[in-house]
Amino acid sequence: MSDKEGIEVSEAEIAAHWQEEEYFYPPAEFIAQANQTDQAVFDRFRLGNFPECFKEYADLLTWDKYWHTTLDTSNAPSWRWFVGGRINACYNCVDRHLPNHRNKAAIIWVPEPEEEADVALTYQELYVRVNELAALLQDFAGLKAGDRVTLHLPMVPELPITMLACARLGVIHSEVFGGFSGKSCGERIADSGSRILITMDGYHRAGDLLDHKVKSDEAVQVAGNEGQVVDKVLVWRRYPGQYVSKSKMVKGRDFFVDELLPNYLGARIEPVSMPAEAPLFLMYTSGTTGKPKGCQHNTGGYLAYVAGTSKYVQDIHPEDVYWCMADIGWITGHSYIVYGPLSLAATSVMYEGVPTYPDAGRTWRIAERLGVNIFHTAPTTIRMLRKAGPDEPGKYQFQFKHMTTVGEPIEPEVWRWYYHSVGKGKAVIVDTYWQTETGGFLCSTMPAIHPMKPGSAGPGMPGIHPIIYDEDGSVIERGSGKAGNICIQNPWPGGFETIWGDRKRYVSTYYEKYCRNPESKDWRDWPYFTGDAAIQADDGYYRILGRVDDVINVAGHRLGTKELESACLLVPEVAEAAVVPMADDIKGRVPDAYISLKPEYKPSKKIQEAVVAAIETEIGKIARPKRVHIVPDMPKTRSGKIMRRVLAAISDARDIGDVTTLANPEVVEQIRQMVQGDNTETLK
Ligand code: PRX
Repeated sequence: MSDKEGIEVSEAEIAAHWQEEEYFYPPAEFIAQANQTDQAVFDRFRLGNFPECFKEYADLLTWDKYWHTTLDTSNAPSWRWFVGGRINACYNCVDRHLPNHRNKAAIIWVPEPEEEADVALTYQELYVRVNELAALLQDFAGLKAGDRVTLHLPMVPELPITMLACARLGVIHSEVFGGFSGKSCGERIADSGSRILITMDGYHRAGDLLDHKVKSDEAVQVAGNEGQVVDKVLVWRRYPGQYVSKSKMVKGRDFFVDELLPNYLGARIEPVSMPAEAPLFLMYTSGTTGKPKGCQHNTGGYLAYVAGTSKYVQDIHPEDVYWCMADIGWITGHSYIVYGPLSLAATSVMYEGVPTYPDAGRTWRIAERLGVNIFHTAPTTIRMLRKAGPDEPGKYQFQFKHMTTVGEPIEPEVWRWYYHSVGKGKAVIVDTYWQTETGGFLCSTMPAIHPMKPGSAGPGMPGIHPIIYDEDGSVIERGSGKAGNICIQNPWPGGFETIWGDRKRYVSTYYEKYCRNPESKDWRDWPYFTGDAAIQADDGYYRILGRVDDVINVAGHRLGTKELESACLLVPEVAEAAVVPMADDIKGRVPDAYISLKPEYKPSKKIQEAVVAAIETEIGKIARPKRVHIVPDMPKTRSGKIMRRVLAAISDARDIGDVTTLANPEVVEQIRQMVQGDNTETLK
């Protein structure tokens, strides 16, 4: 997993290796109502029935024109699904539900300030608002099918409205997580070639009304420096008519959406019938180099896959109240707040703010008041809620039937709290393993079919056939007790088609390692490399151990160590930087930064603060390092490579292993004493 010289550290190497073989069984009441109770689904989706089995998911959608080719492999490994078909994603999430669900809440939005009223948008209201905005985007912003538009929006209903308006026009949206900096947003604008940015003036978070519009000024400038001109910035206002940002509106460039919308009152825009393989959106994610990757997800395959998995794994029925607490700025929100649930005519709950604001009971009050019965969140949030108020869930009258955990491994102890205290012993839990690239779930138990096993994701989803390879490409058998690289043997409709503008990187990152023949047009020659280490138990369940590359999973969010390190290097005093993952009780992992200084400088608190500030500006607050250690030198191999593995072991106070072959072994002990033996201040 780490390469043979042991040069790089991987999260997998430092993952908690718990043993867990205890089963929990789905309650009979859950099974009685579940969408999928038939074992035969796995037979229908066996490899022998691939790719035709996925027709079952595609048939959940309404097609303008049915496809003729289920899977086109002619451009391997860029897979194209349901070719020949035409479809509109917005039509499938909105218009087609009007006859039966016109007056049903599509989205219920809960603002962070508790005194502000919830906003419930019925499917009819959503239809009206999406149409009016689509008219504005088309006529005022000049957007048309195939154009890219960058969204930098927080958790407000305007975000799904904007996404759906884009989808209606065939415009490719690229939503950048609201917590990312203006700089990050600007780089994504440039990479995607967007000439329109859609943002908001401000939003509530942890009791503050944050100024968000100010980031757009930097974003436009950064994009401009990279040669991408932004013609228009469309600014939603958190409180229409009232501007809460300090940033000036630039004349001729910045426009308030609420001032423009009245011009489109009552407008109706025909959904544009798109080829199934047309891109629906880009979602940027971190990789092993500094430059984020724009994962391109296509319309028909993606929508079919998220509809199918929302139905079978999330077990969403139209009458359910479903709450996924992720941010729509990440893939989880795209797939399992917006496109999956809405394609099934569900009621999808969105919350603006922090789960523990103003107190540890907030999440449970929302669940109680709205009658939420399906709940979906990440281990980080579960750990946070447990720490803030372990007994809080019991104080509120809500009952979930189904709960999800996603994004990181969940410790069995935390799982059991989720099960007993949050689920009150009556809800099933699915631990869903997947990635930005994969569009939807890869591994999970089927909630009414399989028993749950705390700490293990479960078997492959129907139609997903994982395999674990060792470094040399030999298969690691189930039950062998050995870990390896988890790969997927076959394509599936939710998978991304390419990295926007960089197909070479797409092939080299995800397929080169285990490709059997680079000329092949046969999918069997192209196993998908996830970048995760996993172990498969005797029962077929996969336990995901963590990343094998230079990606840190912080609170379920992916950060590239190279992105962090290049931010550190922007501080003029810094000569070298290494950022490693460090175990954290709440967030799972946090970045721990090591820097060495150019000879003319002395260590100072000011330099540490400058490093933190650089990371926040370059990436955003989520990337804030736990500590910044100023070290005399980095531990290095004789060929001059920084030994991150050693630094990570020091950060976690683990066994450092043999360092005698290093070029400068003496520095290791010096650093260890600095980090473990002293009172290096934690930066709050
Ligand atoms: O390492 C795996 C971890 O999160 C990575 C994907 O992160 P991202 O693209 O941001 O998507 C997060 C939401 C799907 C994976 O490579 N991961 C994801 N789900 C799990 C997980 N690790 C353990 N268990 C999971 N259920």
